[in-house]
Amino acid sequence: MKVTVVGAGAVGATCADNIARKELANELVLLDIKEGFAEGKAQDMMQTAALLGFDTKISGCTNDYSKTANSDVVVITSGLPRKPGMTREELIGTNAGIVKGVCENILKFSPNAIIIVISNPMDTMTYLALQSTGLPKHRIIGMGGTLDSARFKYQLSTALDCSPADLNAIVVGGHGDTTMIPLIKHATWNSIPVTQFLDTAAQEKIVNDTMVGGATLTKLLGTSAWYAPGAAGAALVESILRDEKKLFTCCVSLNGEYGQKDICLGVPVVIGKNGWEKIVAMDLSADEQAAFNKSADAVRSMNDVLKTL
Ligand code: LAC
Repeated sequence: MKVTVVGAGAVGATCADNIARKELANELVLLDIKEGFAEGKAQDMMQTAALLGFDTKISGCTNDYSKTANSDVVVITSGLPRKPGMTREELIGTNAGIVKGVCENILKFSPNAIIIVISNPMDTMTYLALQSTGLPKHRIIGMGGTLDSARFKYQLSTALDCSPADLNAIVVGGHGDTTMIPLIKHATWNSIPVTQFLDTAAQEKIVNDTMVGGATLTKLLGTSAWYAPGAAGAALVESILRDEKKLFTCCVSLNGEYGQKDICLGVPVVIGKNGWEKIVAMDLSADEQAAFNKSADAVRSMNDVLKTL
């Protein structure tokens, strides 16, 4: 199996590091536009192989897409990250051109690849990737909800003093500070509703802290986060390459599901060897559906910006 990670910045490199440590692929290519950067990161990672004991062969290249040929999965992290105080949406003008170009180049050499989009604003970049490539919709997956759901579990595990691995909790909707919807009423601690242990104020705090999870880190770090975004990308790669059929929240093309169409938005999907294999329906309350529709409206107006670029 071969995986390419485009963009060797913090998110791309962390994603690659996770892929290598788990030996998900025998070949892993890092590509970046900055001269020598991906080569350096790849060599540094290869020098951990003797210590960590993995066999994945990692190589780096500067904008040479021929090196990515015949990749099974391609993770796109390229583009500017956000700076403190910036929204993900403010990146659209710059990142749209970058993501579109990357998709074109990737498909020249890997026409059958499944594409995972991490670049922000992620919902709009996923929509752009789908529109500009014309690929079958199952092969374009936006990573956002996978990350946001992990952040939601972190907040819940802190409040409940429990293991995040014992939690079932998902975030649907957009991957923006105001568009994501942590579904706390559906969250369980090994099947027990978490709402049994949390009063309304505690629930609201968890939801709010989850929604600004990325912004909080951007403020602390001076740039956007990378450990959890990279791990989330790698978890999707794992479910594809091992055909695990795990249920993740991902940004995918909706055609009437959850009451929306002509949009890519975060919903529960099964991830396996064919990409996202099916959308899983869940019963949303009237309030949750209203929040989902509002999120869709916000993402749709962001997608409309693409037409003006
Ligand atoms: C974040 C970026 C990757 O949420 O969107 O940290």
